[in-house]
Amino acid sequence: MAIETAVSPDTAPAVNAEGPNPGDVIVTSNLWKTYVMGDQTVNALRGVNLRIRHSEYVAIMGPSGSGKSTLMNLIGCLDSPTQGKYWLNGHDVSSLNDDELARIRNKEIGFVFQTFNLLARATSLHNVELPLIYNGTPAAERTARAKAVLESVNLGTRMMHKPNELSGGQRQRVAIARALVNSPSIILADEPTGNLDSKTSVEIMALFDDLHAKGNTIVLVTHEPDIAEFAHRIVTIRDGAVASDHPSSRVSGS
Ligand SMILES: Nc1ncnc2c1ncn2[C@@H]1O[C@H](COP(=O)(O)OP(=O)(O)OP(=O)(O)O)[C@@H](O)[C@H]1O
Ligand SMILES: [Mg+2]
Repeated sequence: MAIETAVSPDTAPAVNAEGPNPGDVIVTSNLWKTYVMGDQTVNALRGVNLRIRHSEYVAIMGPSGSGKSTLMNLIGCLDSPTQGKYWLNGHDVSSLNDDELARIRNKEIGFVFQTFNLLARATSLHNVELPLIYNGTPAAERTARAKAVLESVNLGTRMMHKPNELSGGQRQRVAIARALVNSPSIILADEPTGNLDSKTSVEIMALFDDLHAKGNTIVLVTHEPDIAEFAHRIVTIRDGAVASDHPSSRVSGS
């Protein structure tokens, strides 16, 4: 008589230990980034293995120089790894060229920076329209979408202001609106509250909470433990590799 196993090998879900599994949006395997400057070589990343699932909310912490921004730039398709693999939404993007990376970035990823990176001479509206200009969206639709997303971050009355006519928190909200205008599913933020006071930081984090509640995947870098606790999972990077990875106390309740 044949021995029946509880789960037949045919129906058991295949778990891919290295590459992406269903529901994974960001998977890196042994990711290295080496910068060469003259005779100096810096291994900014030394084999990062990270797996982030759809609609996770992850904070990345770690000492200055540990490789956080380097990792975010790779995850955000702003740069390619020296070695290792990166799968974004199930696709291997580690060996794509700059043009292909730019196309994926524009579609899938919204990036928010510590220094806002807004065009100084342009209005909020124009700053938010920029990604739509790059991807050829017709003018009328562009303006309508930029207005709608500025209203969603409570900047409906500041559309014609330039960055120097806005507060720090308002500038960061313009930058977040710009990151959202292409409706990316993944929001990456490198120290989004690094230039803001604590009250304004909490307002910005409330915005990330909303985005997470709407189903977006969020990865943010911060130096501040209080800010990291807004996330649900905290990954610590040390010397270019993952040193710890655990639920935040918001989730674990400790
Ligand atoms: N473009 C570059 N060329 C050469 N070296 C670089 C470059 N970018 C970063 N590095 C080096 O790589 C290492 C990691 O830098 P990275 O900016 O990723 O650190 P970080 O964790 O974001 O630090 P911080 O918290 O200060 O922002 C550092 O030693 C840095 O000097
Ligand atoms: Mg950094």
